[in-house]
Amino acid sequence: MEQTVKINSKIILKPSRIGKKYYVKTFGCQMNEHDSERISGLFELDGMQKAESEDNADILFVNTCTIRENADDKLYGTLGHLKKWKLESENRKLLVGGCAAQKDKNLVRDKAPWVDVVIGTHNLTNIINLLNQSEDWGPVTEIIDEIENLPTDAPSIRESEFSAWLTIQIGCNNSCTFCIVPSVRGPEISRRPSDVINEAKQLVSEGVKEITLLGQNVNSYGRDLKIDNKSRPYFAQLLEQLNNIPDLERIRFTSPHPKDFKKETIFAVKELSKVCNQIHVPLQSGSSSILSKMHRGYNKERFIEKIDMIRSIIPNVSLTTDIIVGFPGETDEDFIDTMDIVNYSEFDAVYMFKFSPRPGTVAFNMKQEFVEKKVIDNRFQLLKDTQTDISERRLKRFVGTEQLLLIEKLSKKNNQIYSGKIDSGQITHIDKGDLNLGDFVKVNIVDSTPFYLKAEQL
Ligand code: SAH
Ligand code: SF4
Ligand code: F3S
Repeated sequence: MEQTVKINSKIILKPSRIGKKYYVKTFGCQMNEHDSERISGLFELDGMQKAESEDNADILFVNTCTIRENADDKLYGTLGHLKKWKLESENRKLLVGGCAAQKDKNLVRDKAPWVDVVIGTHNLTNIINLLNQSEDWGPVTEIIDEIENLPTDAPSIRESEFSAWLTIQIGCNNSCTFCIVPSVRGPEISRRPSDVINEAKQLVSEGVKEITLLGQNVNSYGRDLKIDNKSRPYFAQLLEQLNNIPDLERIRFTSPHPKDFKKETIFAVKELSKVCNQIHVPLQSGSSSILSKMHRGYNKERFIEKIDMIRSIIPNVSLTTDIIVGFPGETDEDFIDTMDIVNYSEFDAVYMFKFSPRPGTVAFNMKQEFVEKKVIDNRFQLLKDTQTDISERRLKRFVGTEQLLLIEKLSKKNNQIYSGKIDSGQITHIDKGDLNLGDFVKVNIVDSTPFYLKAEQL
């Protein structure tokens, strides 16, 4: 008898690959990690089971990133290695999706003709159709410019039982001159608040305790929505509705854009008990002239105002940021402005990147102003050393405090240690003892490093 499976999904499939094994290899950001969970969901709807590694998989999906040049190099290096994997058995299928596939289109199969399916970011939910087509007619590439349907239409097989990603918005309407995301992820589309809330409730009913809301610019959430002629729903209102869901314990979000940061969002972080005490404010550069060339929509003074506003409302909040070193034309004075803001803001952590020219972006054509590699390397090292000292100082403030820790996974380096996060987002290690994954435990923070905390159960 034919079986029809539907797991919390708008998509219905008749499973045709019962017993086959799949594996998904993911590069890039949280959006990609979550898309991979949707791909896994579709594969399981089709009857497949997850393999432990690519070695025992029949179907391998590589979900790619293209944010910096080295991400592209990594992709073609990986596909080179996977030629051997593919040729080991006629029945194996190699699938490539994600942002690099969306950007490179036919180039993927030109460079790696052993790939069976190339799929973009806009049509993810069509993956099983394309897999079928490739079996019937041979290799296929399908990259489309318009968004076909949201990845959230597909079911999701989550990596973690207790923490879940929740997409509230896809794409991006900004035009930061260094960034390739708008061209590979398309325009900003917000999901309806009721869809977000229903998915959150569903996740909680499955045992999820912590939800991380995903969007490229979460605080412009809802700008494209109009509900019953009422004004658009604001991000802070969405947080409030999520906060009311019984049994949901924690809400995090990433990433907000400094130019759209509203007071209401800061008050939501302060006042809503489930919204965690952390805010990511991506600075990119501290120099007003570079920020203007980056097309970021704020200058040094406006950024400092935002930091002051956040700190005056929530003095003990954990702040993190992203910084690009060596944007075209960055002078020593520009870099000093960045260091000034870093010293002033006292971020808990800084995610730092060396500028990487991406074809198709405005900054790619600023070649005559590219900063010398040696200069970028020196500035990067200086920033890293300075921030390591700041992070070390910042994380020490937790030592001796009592915190609530969600146990998330085994440490990669030591299987007697669990790793999790405290409310304000710091990674925290604790001896396994008789603890279990998913436990919420009261702990005492006993030690700190610049990068993580150590805890003991109370
Ligand atoms: N939407 C998010 C950023 C997503 S990309 C935001 O606006 O904050 C994540 C980070 O990658 C960016 O914040 C930026 O610091 C970095 N990045 C993006 N393009 C880059 C490039 N061409 N070179 C170096 N770093 C880059
Ligand atoms: Fe890229 Fe800017 Fe959009 Fe972030 S806000 S994804 S950096 S274009
Ligand atoms: Fe993310 Fe990389 Fe795409 S950072 S949005 S996977 S280009």
